Amino acid sequence: MLFPYGKVVINEAFYDRHEIRTSIHRLLKAAQSFMLKAPRRYGKTSLIKQTLLDIEQEHFYVDFRKIPRLEVFNMQLMEYIYAQMGLQGAIKQIQENIITFLKTHRTTVKVDAALFEASVELFASDKDEEDKLVAILELLGKLSKELEYPLYIVFDEFQDAVNMSSKIDIYEMMRAEIQHHENICYIFAGSNMTMMTTIFETKSAPFYNFARKLTLAPFEKSELGKEIIKAFRSRGVVFENDALLDTLIDRCGGHPANTMLVLQMVEFKMLDEDIKTITQAIIDECYQAAQEEMHDLVMEYLKEMRTKEHLHDVIFRMANHQKQILDPSSLQQKRKYLVDMGHLRHIRRGEYEIIDNFLRDELIDASF
Ligand SMILES: Nc1ncnc2c1ncn2[C@@H]1O[C@H](COP(=O)(O)OP(=O)(O)O)[C@@H](O)[C@H]1O
Ligand SMILES: [Mg+2]
Repeated sequence: MLFPYGKVVINEAFYDRHEIRTSIHRLLKAAQSFMLKAPRRYGKTSLIKQTLLDIEQEHFYVDFRKIPRLEVFNMQLMEYIYAQMGLQGAIKQIQENIITFLKTHRTTVKVDAALFEASVELFASDKDEEDKLVAILELLGKLSKELEYPLYIVFDEFQDAVNMSSKIDIYEMMRAEIQHHENICYIFAGSNMTMMTTIFETKSAPFYNFARKLTLAPFEKSELGKEIIKAFRSRGVVFENDALLDTLIDRCGGHPANTMLVLQMVEFKMLDEDIKTITQAIIDECYQAAQEEMHDLVMEYLKEMRTKEHLHDVIFRMANHQKQILDPSSLQQKRKYLVDMGHLRHIRRGEYEIIDNFLRDELIDASF
């Protein structure tokens, strides 16, 4: 398949992103921590996976959307720590018999025996999960000091880490520990623009000044265009004229997932009907089919916007080039909300753009 959709994409399925890919290689090689912020479905996870793969770097990866409670995260991190000590499947062994585990590995483990013993003690202790997390992060710091190479830790959808504990401020707590970690490269990614800003970019934020900050832009038209033409050509398929693809990418606003969805529909149609030339009519048909497929998600965006006064109307007026009626300072505040929610991008002073092309289309259709 030329254009996989929905999952993480790597290698042949990974398009564009040359510039930021190179910047990230540099950060990774220097073990410089960074955060990557972008709206949902913009290719954050793919970019992180691809760049780590490029430099052949193994890493710890967690998606906080998938972590139901702190205990689960603690276990995963412990498993990783043991793997770095040269022990695979450690948690299972501990759960079976902690004494045997301790005896078996004490003399063979790759790290200082005291560090290993401390890690096992953690399991026997009756600390609550919050205190365990502090201890585990401490352990991770000590471990990294003993190793000759940096460790790479990816915290994906980091804004959702907050849900792991109602007792403490998880970010304050994590930051307090990991700020002392010298030989660990932390990679944070997040789709919730408001939360990521609160965690990293306000002066009082727990991670303020902790990591470099990167924003993932839309696809770059000319680079992407060339790669797509080449991909189709490898299947013997061509565009009827040069402008067709550019117009499609523009229409999708460089939105990665939406662009790929339309292209996949085009790819399948060409295969199913054994056609070799992509025409305007085919693109229009596939664009419309993709728009229909995304309809429910767009409706959810609108519902989410209606929980705050005026947001829906502000973005509706934007999409339809109608005059805004709010006073300048209220309008500014509403736009800022929409930016934080990941629906608008700030281009330059007073100028904004709707991020999701299918949302924009829905808003335009609604005015007729
Ligand atoms: N560089 C890319 N090349 C090709 N498709 C991409 C790229 N980035 C994102 N996509 C498309 O967007 C979808 C979502 O990507 P993903 O990495 O999961 O985004 P995020 O982590 O920002 O939600 C992918 O399944 C793919 O269809
Ligand atoms: Mg992701």
